[in-house]
Formats: sequence, structure tokens, C-alpha cells
Amino acid sequence: MSITILGIESSCDDTSAAVIRDEVMLSNVIASQAVHEAYGGVVPELASRAHQQNIIPVVSEALKRAGVTPEDLSAVAFTRGPGLMGSLLVGTSFAKGFTTALNILLVDVNHLQAHVMAHFIKRFPDDNTQPPFPFLCLLVSGGNSQIIKVESYNEMTVIGQTIDDAAGEAFDKCAKVMGLPYPGGPVVDRLAKEGNPKAFALSKPHIPGFDYSFSGLKTSFLYLLRDKIKEDPDFIEKNKCDLCASLQTTIVDILMDKLYKAVKQTGIKHVAVAGGVSANSAVRAAFEDYARKYGWTVYLPPFSFTTDNAAMVAITGYYKYLDKEFCDIAKAPFARVEL
Ligand code: KG4
Repeated sequence: MSITILGIESSCDDTSAAVIRDEVMLSNVIASQAVHEAYGGVVPELASRAHQQNIIPVVSEALKRAGVTPEDLSAVAFTRGPGLMGSLLVGTSFAKGFTTALNILLVDVNHLQAHVMAHFIKRFPDDNTQPPFPFLCLLVSGGNSQIIKVESYNEMTVIGQTIDDAAGEAFDKCAKVMGLPYPGGPVVDRLAKEGNPKAFALSKPHIPGFDYSFSGLKTSFLYLLRDKIKEDPDFIEKNKCDLCASLQTTIVDILMDKLYKAVKQTGIKHVAVAGGVSANSAVRAAFEDYARKYGWTVYLPPFSFTTDNAAMVAITGYYKYLDKEFCDIAKAPFARVEL
């Protein structure tokens, strides 16, 4: 019998609902919240209010596009954490209410695991692009930078992670000091295409093992701007593309150096990337380059699965459903959690 899962994602500033039937995505609807742009970052209270407004229309649209009715659903999978508490509460409460009304099962999903699991979403029935186990996954988003050893759908070990800021945060905060709009990552990516990546030398961390650090880079970028603006107040405007290219290439080098080390030490050459920063063109080019140079087999997610989306929640829920790992209705969401 077919298993049909409705996924709900509301951990940050995207309200999303998706339907998956037996690994195949039938719909994936995402309502992004433009309200935060004016503030240069996500405002938690505004995010939860927007989720409340969006959740019902987004779920209705996801069911409609999938051509299923609520009665066709086997279970509802929802992001339980980590994320913003007010935002998580909206998706969690909706999922609990919906499953209670329909008398179907509830599955809780870890948002970080879901980013990795995005690689198992089939976009059509014969889609066979999934990585084999074990593989390494570089998870790079606004809140996380981790190297994960993935042994099965539910066995994942973090072997390296940031000790301070995430890679996405480095993109966004450096973009902000240049006066670029939020989120800065995609804007830096676009401007970097016109710039010289060797124009400015920025500091790289010396951290043992597979861990990352991006706070030193942020400070070095800030000091560079401060010193140069003293000489020329129009420095940023005149050098925007070179600054973006130098920043982007430094972030990518930092990410790839540790990943290369992890591949060497584990001997695992199947390497995937996930999370918002995996949309970055230089990250993608570096993966292709390492594949050619070092014989890696690389897995780059389609752009629609890089940022927060409910299809990744639904596929994670699907495998938990097969394992009979259900969620008690009394369980609360969590803002912070390890993988
Ligand atoms: O995974 P995500 O949507 O949200 C979470 O943090 O969970 O990731 C958002 C992050 C932001 O920092 C954004 O600037 C970054 O992903 N991002 C990019 C690009 N597209 C999104 N960073 C660099 N280049 C991009 N093309």
C-alpha cells in the first residue's frame, strides 16, 4: 500500500508544505517572508505571525497541487527543531491539530537531518540520483556548518562543526557591513561573478580536526573595510565585486579544506552538500573541481531543495514512518538540538 506523507516546515522564515508518496515528491509549496528584508535579518515575532497567516493556504495549496485529499494522508511530518521557538510552534500546533482531526499518525523531524535527507527526494519515479551509504555531507546554512558522516537514513554522526559562526552567517554579516540587502549570500554570489577573488587576502582559521570557525574571517573583513574607508570613503562602492569575490573564495576554501581532510581520513569519497549555502555557485564549482581532481563522486541538490522546504521534512518523515518512529502528541518543539 502507498504511504502518503504531508510535510510541514516552519523553523525560520519560510512556511512550507509538501506531499510525498513513496519517496516521490508530488508537491512542495514555499511561502517566503519578505517582511524581514527591511530589518536586515529575521525578526522572530514577525516570522511567527507570518507563519500563522501562511500555514493554512500553504497546506491547502500543497494538497491541491499533489491531487490528494486530507483523507489520503498516512501521516503528517513536521519540523520539531532546531529553529525559532515561535515559528516552530506554528507548524507543530498545526500538525498536531491536523493529525488529531484526521486520526492519523504524527512524525517529528529534526531540521538538520531533513537537510541531509533532501538528497533522497525523488522528483520523478525513476529518479536514481541518491547517494549510497556511507557518504559525507557538508551541511552549510545560515545557522550551521557541519561535516556529517551519513551511515543510513537515521544514523548520522557530526564529525566536524563550526565553533562559532556558520558559513551562511559569514556571508550575510559581511554583506550587511557592505550595505547589501538581506539575505546577503545570494547577492554576494551574484556580485562575485564580476570580481577578482585574489583582490584581497582575508584571514583563514587554524582549528584542529574537522571543525570550522568563521568569526575571525568576519573580523578580518570588517577591519579591511575600516582601514580602507579611512583612505577612501567610497572604497566599498568602488570595490564591491572584488570584495564579494575575495570573501566568497575564502569561505569556500575554508569549507573545502576541512572536507578534503575528512574525505582523506574516512576514505569515503561519496560527498554531498546540503543547506542554503549549497546554492552558492562557487561551492558547487569547488565540488565539481574536487570530483575531477580527487575522484570524488559528488551530490549537489537541486536549487529548490537547498533552502528550507517541506519536501525534505516529508521524506525524512517517510523513512521514520517506515521505522515506526512516531511522535507523541504531548511532545513540544525544541529551539536547539544536536543532529
Ligand atoms: O538553509 P537555509 O535556507 O536556512 C537555514 O539557515 O536553516 O540557509 C540560509 C542561508 C543564508 O545565510 C543565505 O545567505 C545562504 O543560505 N545562501 C547563500 C546562497 N543562497 C542562500 N549563500 C551563498 N550563496 C548563495 N547563492
